[in-house]
Amino acid sequence: MSKNCSFGYQAWIKSQPSKFLPKVTGIDCFALEECKRGLSQLGDKENDTTVTLALSQELSSESYTLEGSPGNLRIEAGCETGLLYGVYGFLFRLRIGESIESISASEKPAVSMRILNHWDNIDGSVERGYSGRSLFFDNGQIGYDPDRLRDYARLLSSVGINQISINNVNVTLESAKLVTEEKLPDVAKIADIFRPFGIKLIIAVHFESPILLGGIKTADPLDDKVAKWWQETAATVYRYIPDLAGFLMKADSEFRSGPASIGRTQAEGANVIAKALKPFGGTIYWRCFVYNCMQDWRDTKTDRPKAAYDYFYPLDGQFDDNVIVQIKHGPMDFQVREPNSPLLGAMSKTKQGLELQIAQEYTGQQIDLYATSTQWEEILNHPVTDNRNTRDLINQEVKAIVAVSNTGNDDNWTGHLLAQANLYAFGRLAWNPSLTADQVTKEWIALTFGNEPNILNPLLDMMLKSRLVYEKYNAPLGIGWMVNINHHYGPSVDGYEYMKWGTYHRANNTAIGVDRTQKGTGYTMQYQPYVQNLYENKDTCPENLLLFFHRLPYDYKLRSGRTLLQYIYDTHFEGVEDVESFIKTWNSLKEYMPEEAYVQVKKRLDAQLENAKEWRDVVNSYFFRKTGISDEKGRKIYE
Ligand code: GCU
Repeated sequence: MSKNCSFGYQAWIKSQPSKFLPKVTGIDCFALEECKRGLSQLGDKENDTTVTLALSQELSSESYTLEGSPGNLRIEAGCETGLLYGVYGFLFRLRIGESIESISASEKPAVSMRILNHWDNIDGSVERGYSGRSLFFDNGQIGYDPDRLRDYARLLSSVGINQISINNVNVTLESAKLVTEEKLPDVAKIADIFRPFGIKLIIAVHFESPILLGGIKTADPLDDKVAKWWQETAATVYRYIPDLAGFLMKADSEFRSGPASIGRTQAEGANVIAKALKPFGGTIYWRCFVYNCMQDWRDTKTDRPKAAYDYFYPLDGQFDDNVIVQIKHGPMDFQVREPNSPLLGAMSKTKQGLELQIAQEYTGQQIDLYATSTQWEEILNHPVTDNRNTRDLINQEVKAIVAVSNTGNDDNWTGHLLAQANLYAFGRLAWNPSLTADQVTKEWIALTFGNEPNILNPLLDMMLKSRLVYEKYNAPLGIGWMVNINHHYGPSVDGYEYMKWGTYHRANNTAIGVDRTQKGTGYTMQYQPYVQNLYENKDTCPENLLLFFHRLPYDYKLRSGRTLLQYIYDTHFEGVEDVESFIKTWNSLKEYMPEEAYVQVKKRLDAQLENAKEWRDVVNSYFFRKTGISDEKGRKIYE
């Protein structure tokens, strides 16, 4: 890392400059430079070694092999980017203590599109950003530190991320202009920085750009003038950035216009852009986050989780082959616990993208510790049919794995130092979705703090538990929300209850939850029969999703024999105790930690404890006031 050498800045790419310069030979390329650079910073453990880089026609693009023997390490790959991945793979293995002669690996990414979406605004702010300001924009312009962007590119490339969108999906007039000749020279410079690292750019575009930028009266995708405008725009963009990955669109969503607002389908909207991008090999990523955000809370028929499926499923087969429909993993919106979207795997004739969120919008905002990998592992394990899970869709229907980024210009990139693990895990799981949360978290700890068991074991334990701990003090059993409106941090049980967003728990003094079974809103019917049956029935529904699918009385007996109400009380007390134990664990690691890392995380854990207490007291009081029933164990609940 070139500029700032603080511990957090180096992330998992540790830099320890040394005089050791190994022999690196083979094809003269960027990967070779990266190899020399990486090795020179490793210390002098592996002297007298020759590393050889070679292209091999037998390996498919991006895949690589590593073959070690005494004094030699050979990296082969199908293309230069593959060599680069091979170099990082080699450096990581060395760093976690493998010896050169024992290294033997053959790696191939599971899917060819491994994408980060930045929600960065042109003014330099980041929507749902908890790590400082934008790395790309500043004060209404494209503005960045080129050295820092290069370091960022290295971080992303080292875990196999190969596409990034740079601007917020909520495109403004200003950011819409990124596709114009006024801005393209600067966008192209960003593409130039990322290109050697095998990373292509995506630009988020505005549905109404033909109107806003083209002066046409309509954005109707079936209008010839509109089609021509997109074609000319694509041609201009590709003149500046010939390897652009494509465009990203959020349409008909949260007050944004789209094809539905003018009586056209999502497929018609996507295809006009797909056709414009097609000659250049580009893809249109078309988001499925479409729902009615003007619902009346009195309306119990409309059920927000049903929306994406209702809009998109009937269009299966109508999307051009360079359209990826980008589906949020859950049918709501990145909550701590949701079932998978029924749309995932439902459309056999449509290319799909699985959208995850690394940014901890509803999951603690990079103040609270939350290892997203544990949630992603569950998402990948979620059944689609009786003999297929979501992981099985990858590289079949699912052609892209996408995540909303958690990075910004904070010194340590992610605000919470331990949230770096989430960025790392995303790249690793997109490359190889069969890896477990345990494996990727271990890797990250080893690369960041070393693999001394004194650090590795307690930290791993704490990180792997963190998601369940967060869930304990939040909204119970999959009901979601209950957060402060707009900024989404901290508890407000009725915060979204009477709002227009379709996010209701409908608690009264006897029951809570939404009946989404066949007899209720019918949401369960969107799943294939195996999953439908699982969720339809209270006895087979996973307990942690009970309130997502069922409306239950507070005295409903859970499998443990506890009542629902007592479960809510218990988990909220436990959540606070668990955070207290995190703090103890972290304190016990102090002696093994760089001071800077210790202090940074300690501050966040202290803030998390305050948050957990606030959640505990607000949620418990809420239900105590509704029910008048005290905690069986007599613990303090505020009246
Ligand atoms: C959430 C989030 C918004 C974001 C939206 C999206 O609703 O709160 O800030 O724009 O998701 O995914 O587009």
